[in-house]
Amino acid sequence: MSRGFRRNALIGAGLATALAAGTVVVACQSSGGSSATPKLSVADPYIPLPATPGGMGAGYLTVRNDGGSDRLVKVTSPSAGSVTMHRSTEQTMEEVGELDVPAHGTLDLARGGNHLMIMDWAKQPALGDELELDLEFAKAGTVVVKVPVKPLTYRPGS
Ligand code: CU
Repeated sequence: MSRGFRRNALIGAGLATALAAGTVVVACQSSGGSSATPKLSVADPYIPLPATPGGMGAGYLTVRNDGGSDRLVKVTSPSAGSVTMHRSTEQTMEEVGELDVPAHGTLDLARGGNHLMIMDWAKQPALGDELELDLEFAKAGTVVVKVPVKPLTYRPGS
């Protein structure tokens, strides 16, 4: 009788511990703070065919983040000698060393805004090519993306 009671008490204690642990996990996921793990995915990547064959090109894509904040710190490509990150202002654009990927938000690289500039092509890009971009994030590490070359005037969803 007393033995049975003790066993039940132990099971009860174990359950309480499991429930407490579960509560901690939930709190961690909903905080979205800088310590939370980023969960990144890349949508709608494309490179418009450069206006001058083999000339400077741009790269556009959207980084979605379902986790904590991260930063895009470097972009490289086996297809090009130079890939830089640019921020557009009203009249001009400037190279930046990194771009923020907000927690539970997106980093948009789009026409008229932040974008990638690509130079020194290993081979002149052509319509239908798929070029690799290696996106290096501060926390999530490297994300490899296959990026299609689209007509100069292409816009996603068109
Ligand atoms: Cu630029």
